[in-house]
Amino acid sequence: MSPATGAVTDALRELHSRYAGVGEGELADYIPELALADPGAFGLALISMDGHRYSTGDAGAPFTIQSVSKPFVYALALSLLGLDEVSRWVNAEPSGEAFNAISLERSTGRPANAMVNAGAIVTTALIPDTPVAPRFGRILDCLSRFAGRRLDVDEEVYASEAATGDRNRALAYLIRSTGPLPVDPVAAVETYFRQCSVRVTALDLAAMAATLAHGGVNPLTGDRVVAEPVAAQVLAVMATCGMYDASGDWLLRVGLPAKSGVSGGLIAAGPARFGLAAYSPLLDRTGTSVRGHLAIGMLSERLGLHLM
Ligand code: DON
Repeated sequence: MSPATGAVTDALRELHSRYAGVGEGELADYIPELALADPGAFGLALISMDGHRYSTGDAGAPFTIQSVSKPFVYALALSLLGLDEVSRWVNAEPSGEAFNAISLERSTGRPANAMVNAGAIVTTALIPDTPVAPRFGRILDCLSRFAGRRLDVDEEVYASEAATGDRNRALAYLIRSTGPLPVDPVAAVETYFRQCSVRVTALDLAAMAATLAHGGVNPLTGDRVVAEPVAAQVLAVMATCGMYDASGDWLLRVGLPAKSGVSGGLIAAGPARFGLAAYSPLLDRTGTSVRGHLAIGMLSERLGLHLM
């Protein structure tokens, strides 16, 4: 992080008080449990490459990771299988569509990318499942290593998502009908629901983003979670696809690889510089935290974080 540490703390505090009163956006309610979130919750966290933690507001408040899990499970799949094999199953092209769109490539049936639900379900399904190392156990271990502490599942959110997840089940069946789903659709989607229901805080998400920014080494624990090329591959897909049909506008204006989630989590990474996260559950039409978007956008402008 190049700006002075005092400047980072001041900027986070100032942005928090500037945007805390913004009341626009809606709570996600298609997963009923998510509609119980506190609409006023708002936290910001930044972790630098030397492991310095900066935070303000509700940065320690728990919420479920939702789609912010997708880049990290993609990282796990890339680590275990390599880019060529993973790319046989899921492409890396921006879809220009909503997160829950069908988004399957016409010629191969592959999902457009691993950030939309269709691609994330396939990515989850690619993680090997053995009696000694079950698929979800591997995913939870990996997410925990990215965060630098042991994470767990919010069982209420999982049950709520499983009870209402027919669109994702439909996507999984549709993908299998065109070919590229390596396991049973029900098994794939149930694991995907559990992955989305892993409980985190904004500080956890900042550590996860910082690990990608730091070439795959967690700056808090020193743990090498993934190899450097894998971290670079994941950041590239976040930059082009992480914000769904708002990815181009986000990269243009904010200039950072990022990923949003419908519980209100949002991460952005400055390669070799920092990991940044926001939590605020009021969402815009693309499923992005309104306050998170405003705060990260302004922080990028203030501190000159745009990649270009
Ligand atoms: O599959 C779903 O619909 C949710 N578990 C996750 C979607 C999500 O977070 C989209 N991102 N903004």
